[in-house]
Order: sequence, then C-alpha cells, then structure tokens
Amino acid sequence: MSSYDVIIIGSGPGGYVCAIRCAQLGLKTAVVEGRETLGGTCLNIGCIPSKALLHASHQLHEAEHNFAKMGLKGKSPSVDWKQMLAYKDDVIGQNTKGIEFLFKKNKIDWLKGWGSIPEAGKVKVGDDTHEAKNIIIATGSEPSALPGIEIDEKVVVSSEGALELAKIPKKLVVIGAGVIGLELGSVYSRLGAEVQVIEYLDHITPGMDAEVSKTFQKLLTKQGLTFTLGAAVQSVEASKTKATVTYKLRKDDSEHTTDADVVLVATGRKPYVDGLGLDALGVEMTERGQIKTDGKYATNIKGIHAIGDAITGPMLAHKAEDEGMALAENIAGKHGHVNYGVIPGVIYTHPEVASVGETEATLKEAGREYKVGKFSFMGNARAKAVFAGDGFVKLIADKETDRILGCHIIGPGAGDLIHEVCVAMEFGASAQDRAMTCHAHPTYSEAVREAVLACGDGAIHM
Ligand code: NAI
Repeated sequence: MSSYDVIIIGSGPGGYVCAIRCAQLGLKTAVVEGRETLGGTCLNIGCIPSKALLHASHQLHEAEHNFAKMGLKGKSPSVDWKQMLAYKDDVIGQNTKGIEFLFKKNKIDWLKGWGSIPEAGKVKVGDDTHEAKNIIIATGSEPSALPGIEIDEKVVVSSEGALELAKIPKKLVVIGAGVIGLELGSVYSRLGAEVQVIEYLDHITPGMDAEVSKTFQKLLTKQGLTFTLGAAVQSVEASKTKATVTYKLRKDDSEHTTDADVVLVATGRKPYVDGLGLDALGVEMTERGQIKTDGKYATNIKGIHAIGDAITGPMLAHKAEDEGMALAENIAGKHGHVNYGVIPGVIYTHPEVASVGETEATLKEAGREYKVGKFSFMGNARAKAVFAGDGFVKLIADKETDRILGCHIIGPGAGDLIHEVCVAMEFGASAQDRAMTCHAHPTYSEAVREAVLACGDGAIHM
C-alpha cells in the first residue's frame, strides 16, 4: 500500500491540472485513470478532437468558398475521411502524451485502473488500496441520452461516436442546438452532409445573448444547416444503416418524422460518478446527480473533495482547471479562489462565438441598469480583408459606474478576443479604461475597443 498527500480520481482538465499544481506545491500526488491515455473526455473524445475536425473542415470550406475570390484557382480538395480521422487521432496523441510527460516531470504517479473509495482516506485501484490524506473526485461527465433512445455509437451517436463515424453521412439529424450539436453539426455540414438540427426551445444555444443567438442561427443557416425549433424529440427508431426521428412541435402538438443516416444526440451531459462507491460512503448529492460541495470543494465526508463537471456549475474544461488549481492551493495552505462571474464560454464554429459575464436578459431580470456598446466586424478592416465581416462585439457596462459587466462576441477569433474583456473584468475595469488602451491596427481586437468606445462617446468606424 502506498501513501499520498493527494489522490485524484480522473485525469481530465480538472484532475490533471490539480495534480500538477499539487505537485508544484510539494504534495505527494497520484492520479487514478482507467483510460489508456491521460486527459479525460476533453483530450480524448471532446474538446481537442472536435477542434481538429473543425479546423480541417473549415479549411475545406475556405477552399470551396473563398479561394477563387482571392485568385487561388483550381480544383477544391476532396475529403479523405480516413486521413482526416488519422490527423485527429494524431492531435489527440500529441496532447495526451504531453500530459504523461508533465506527470513524469512533476513526479506524479499514474495509478492505472478505475478507482473507488472504500472508506474515507483510501482509494482502491484494481487489487491495490492506497492511502491518501486528501481524495479529489474529478471524474467529469458523460452524455445524458434522452429516455428511451438507445445510443449504439454507429447510427445513433453521442458526441463520442460522432468523432469516429465510419463515413460522412448523407443526412445527419442533430438533436439539441447546444454547443456540441452546433460544433459537430458544422463539421459534417462543411464535409457535405445535409444537417438538420432539432431543438426543443424556440431558439438555439440556451442562455446565450439573444442577439448573438439570432445572428448565429442566421449565419449557420446560410452555411446550409437547417433548424427545426420548438420541437421535442420523442423517439428514434434505428436500423443498422438508417434512423427515423419522431418529434412533436410544441406550438400545436403535431407529430412529425424525419429520416437520417446518422442521428447525433446532443441534449446535455450528466456527472459521471459510477463505481466510486459514493452511496455507501454517504456522500451527499444534488437533485441533478452532482456531488454536493461547499465553497472550498469539500464534500460532507472529511478528506473527500470534488471538482469539475461532477459538481455544480458550467461543464467547461477551463472551469474544472481553475477549480483544480484553487483546490490544490487550499490543500497546500494557500488561498485558492475561482471567480465564477468571469468564466468565458466559447463555441468553436465559424464564426466563433464567445461570451463572458452578464447578458442583457440576466441584468433585466436583476433590475440592474446597463448600457450597451456594439460594433460590427463589417467596420473592422482586418475582418473585411479575410471574408470575416459577419458578426459583432457587444459590450455591456453598468449605466452609472461604467464598470464592464459582460461581453458577447460573434465573429473572427471571438474565442481569443473574449479574454481581453475577461482580464478587464478581473481588474474591475470600466469601459472607459478599456477605451483608453491602444490596440494594434489592423487587428480583430480593434472591434472590441470600438464596442467599448460605443459605450461612451461613440465608435470611430461606424
Ligand atoms: P447543451 O445543454 O449545451 O444543449 C442541449 C440542447 O438540447 C438544449 O438546447 C436543449 O434545449 C436541447 N434538448 C434537450 N432535450 C431535447 C429534446 N427532447 N428534443 C430537442 N431538443 C432537446 O448540451 P450539449 O451541447 O450536449 O453540451 C453538453 C455540455 O458540454 C455543455 O455544458 C457544454 O457547455 C459542454 N461543452 C462545451 C464545449 C465548448 O466549450 N466549446 C464543447 C462541447 C461541450
């Protein structure tokens, strides 16, 4: 039996980042991981592989739609799907091996196998039981399928199967217009599939700024995706090669069907805590199946902590990472902290969509007065030069104090641009503070500055 200061169960972004910070702070650390490779859902079957496919399919889109306009003539590339999957797998390999290297560098033990907690202070992996002063559950989440719909990962797939399809489907039906549905829907649409997205709500991307959501839907429609909104999927009948999706329109309760070669079920995720033995330990859970924790990530059982998708809050890799770092610091006697008001969200489609902080809807609900500064990428020289003028930056600031409260961007590089607003918000900056910061020309970031200027005396290029 070996003994550790910290044993972390799960090596996703929450677990591996927590482990590295624990080791850096002098704690003897081990991570339990049952997968063949480190990195969890994000690196193996989530964020990273989907970004590889988004990148590859975007290149095809550029070749088909924009090359000729720039005088680059000739036949568009054809898709070698096997090679594209191999490229994606290579990207996964490089990233997961990178984590293995970081574990070695930081002297973190990888306990290979699936872990359980037989009692507080002990973690069982296979036949071995290890002791730990602190146990951290970072087991992440899994797709939450719709009741009665069986995922076979061939014809009816979750986000995992959607990264490994045998071939590009002629028709893909996506259930759920959230982040996963739209990212993977975009990939297959660009690769030539007819993509129909069926969504329960009357709009796409729940929780997002309403104007961004509308513009996003318009742009995706222009790219060829079709949307059936206000439709609750009832069932999916699948054979070996086809499926029929039945849905009810909420406005009149009428029932409809649509056929597909592949159906992607992207209706959310739920915490993955199977096999840990939490019931027997008496670990308190929320009604939604998340592990209950206090403000310092402690469960009700002494010495057992939890972070990431397994607890409450947005299911985002970077939220889990920040919680992992904060918890490591707390265990080492420091004062780790996560500012939940400044956690950005990004959708890696083209154009990208990114947001942070309050929306107009949340501020209206709170009865808080605000002002809005908006700037279209059509007024941004750099964006226009690369066919990326669609979209805008919307900055929201407190009406009285001018303090920045939120930002919503749809447009080129949105996922990177959002961070200048995140930093400003962390420093409690006012819109005026940002407006006074010089931005290089020509860059997309000027659009953020112009939105900030629009919050004050006015944008220049509009
Ligand atoms: P989601 O919660 O974002 O969206 C699910 C959608 O399915 C909702 O719009 C919901 O109204 C709809 N829906 C539910 N039941 C339905 C039914 N019966 N018929 C029709 N529509 C129905 O879930 P998603 O996209 O599966 O993502 C899961 C989690 O993973 C999210 O928390 C997301 O933030 C995270 N994620 C984040 C990524 C990123 O940051 N780029 C990428 C991928 C996932």
